[in-house]
Amino acid sequence: MTGISARSNLPRSLVLVGLMGAGKSAIGRRLAHRLGLPFVDADQEIERAAGCTVEDIFELYGEPAFRDVERRVIARLLTGPLHVLATGGGAFMDIDTRASIAENGISLWLRADLEVLLARTSRRNNRPLLKRDDPAAVLQKLIDIRYPVYARADIVIDSRDAPLDHTVDIALDAIDLYLAESSAAAAG
Ligand code: S3P
Repeated sequence: MTGISARSNLPRSLVLVGLMGAGKSAIGRRLAHRLGLPFVDADQEIERAAGCTVEDIFELYGEPAFRDVERRVIARLLTGPLHVLATGGGAFMDIDTRASIAENGISLWLRADLEVLLARTSRRNNRPLLKRDDPAAVLQKLIDIRYPVYARADIVIDSRDAPLDHTVDIALDAIDLYLAESSAAAAG
């Protein structure tokens, strides 16, 4: 691909969005490495800021309190140095968080189907939303509600059951295409 390359010229932080199990952290870590940028996991930053785990925040203070911290932490991160940010699955649903991502980041949705999400999330049982009910039913409901909103991301790629580096290559090409189209649009 010619023109602007994400590998050398990412103008804003790259923000990965998508459901639990979409691969945001695993892909994000590798993308950061390939882009020569730091990787930041929003949930880990939230845990650091709150001094307890995401599970504990949900348990002790409830989901709305978690969303408040999440919004503030992501806004702070995105006004800091350039990085690759993996957000929690609900972050992009928040209108203010979407606005701060639109202003200070480039959003990339890792779209995955139910089977992939189920297989990946069943490996660890640390997600509060998946403990309340049948995980397949919860994930399907979240797909129905969230996918139309995730679809507003700047870039969309499929996260399949493929080697991670393959998905990373596809993501890098998609980012380059997005940058080339944005600069062509800006040039009129
Ligand atoms: C959530 C996803 C989780 C975490 C929290 C809520 C969600 O992050 O932020 O449990 O609302 O989908 P991951 O998507 O990284 O699992």
